[in-house]
Amino acid sequence: MKQEKDWYKELVIYQIYPRSFKDGNGDGIGDLKGMTEKLDYLKELGITAVWMSPVYASPNVDNGYDISDYRQIMEESGTMEDWERFRDKAHERGIAVIMDLVLNHSSDLHPWFQESKKSKDNPYSDYYIWRDPAPDGGAPNQWLSVFGGSAWEYVEERGQYYLHFFAKQQPDLNWDNDEAREKIFDIIRFWNDRGVDGYRVDAISYLDKGLDGRADMTEAFGTASCANLEGTHRYIREMAQKTIKPDNLMTVGEVIIRNTRDARDYTGRSREEFDMAIPFVPPVVEIRTWSPERFKKDLEETYECLKEDGWWARFLSNHDKPRQVSLYGDDRRYWKESAKMLGCYLHTLPGTPFVYQGEELGMTNLYLPSIEEYDDIDTKNYYYTMIREGASHEKALSESQIISRDNARTPMQWDGSANAGFSEARPWLPVNPNYTKINAERQMEEEDSVFRFYQKLIALRKENPVMVHGDFRLCCDREGPVIAYTRSLGRETWLAVHNFSGGKVRFDHEKLTGHGEVVISNYEEPETEQGSVTLRPYETLVVRV
Ligand code: GLC
Ligand code: CA
Repeated sequence: MKQEKDWYKELVIYQIYPRSFKDGNGDGIGDLKGMTEKLDYLKELGITAVWMSPVYASPNVDNGYDISDYRQIMEESGTMEDWERFRDKAHERGIAVIMDLVLNHSSDLHPWFQESKKSKDNPYSDYYIWRDPAPDGGAPNQWLSVFGGSAWEYVEERGQYYLHFFAKQQPDLNWDNDEAREKIFDIIRFWNDRGVDGYRVDAISYLDKGLDGRADMTEAFGTASCANLEGTHRYIREMAQKTIKPDNLMTVGEVIIRNTRDARDYTGRSREEFDMAIPFVPPVVEIRTWSPERFKKDLEETYECLKEDGWWARFLSNHDKPRQVSLYGDDRRYWKESAKMLGCYLHTLPGTPFVYQGEELGMTNLYLPSIEEYDDIDTKNYYYTMIREGASHEKALSESQIISRDNARTPMQWDGSANAGFSEARPWLPVNPNYTKINAERQMEEEDSVFRFYQKLIALRKENPVMVHGDFRLCCDREGPVIAYTRSLGRETWLAVHNFSGGKVRFDHEKLTGHGEVVISNYEEPETEQGSVTLRPYETLVVRV
């Protein structure tokens, strides 16, 4: 699809986690054929781009984030013809196709690594990061991997350790090697030539490892001080220049953001790195630290920092987080209210909204009864690390259940039939038993469903430039559960008010009247009066003022 300048600002991007979306050939695993079948559903929802998590050849140690051949489609996902068919059918419906680029590391089964590990003097020897053992034979330094344990793995054949920020089956590529870098850029060009519209670039904050002289860092890399080094920015700019800018493709980088400077460095237009950024926060940290107060602080800071020269990726969910209604809302008592409120919040903020599959139905977390039933490598590592450190089985399991990325990876709930209509076979990960109540078929029929609410929000965004380009101003107390802001463009001003709590709260605003024009809300009649409104549990309200 030929794109205008700044086209990414108007998109609503839908993330598909292919394994869990729709099985098209009855083997229990979602695939490209299933994704193509469901394009009409996505069209009806109204989204304008799909980002698919990786479908390249992979042994699936980390569900496709470990790639063994960047130019092939993995068997479980289908064939290159299936991918091309998906692309064509998506484009016919005006839906852009965004691929996931995993370039920090490959799979250990990638031919480059298979060669690299053989000796110190083969042509691929420097494509990965190898170091001699420490004098005592141990790892070269104390670095820990994101998934737990040492970030170094010893290979007998070569007599050296290689670095892996993630699982040991995900060796880090050496971006300092010019030839390796060019080969990586060729991979991107390969997909550009196949008509991809943009990329989500995975775990891209650590290209420059800053390895030398840093021995004793023992934090996991998610928060580590080796993120965002100058060399990393230099490589990203080189990549953008050589592969992205010539075709005006959209990019969103998954990065570590510790302060406003990091945000600006990655997404400032003048920097020519990414159009926007997905900040990575480990689920454990997000669960412990989120609050409406923190949201307000972040909103203000990131708005100020990027309003002149950058842009925001907005999301509450993805395949690495618990379900949003379970995390930020109330998935029991106020399930529907809070699912809608979070959707309204997402779509009325400045930036491009990212909707994660099933969020538009208010899908919830699922706690599996034993660690064996989990698939996620991160969940398993977390559990076994806790056990090793002396935690009881009960404690380790209950913590793992809450943080598990599998909460977001249970199969999509299409209808009330067996396996939620996801597959005729037993799905690779259990279906949430609440599918009989929470499913797409049912919600497409009900006027008042979460699905219909999302559909309305997405339609509103297409018709009202104020939602895309309007200025943003927070206009609520910095304390307390109410998040309220105005968006203004020309003569148009909208006031959005969200109650992030299960209680009633009063909110004052001079521009509120008893009969302001309600753009959207999740309760029948808003209780507005002159100058104030009484918000009910998880109420959300947008009015023209
Ligand atoms: C990103 C992905 C995550 C993956 C990791 C390693 O954070 O979103 O799913 O495990 O990178 O590739
Ligand atoms: Ca399948």
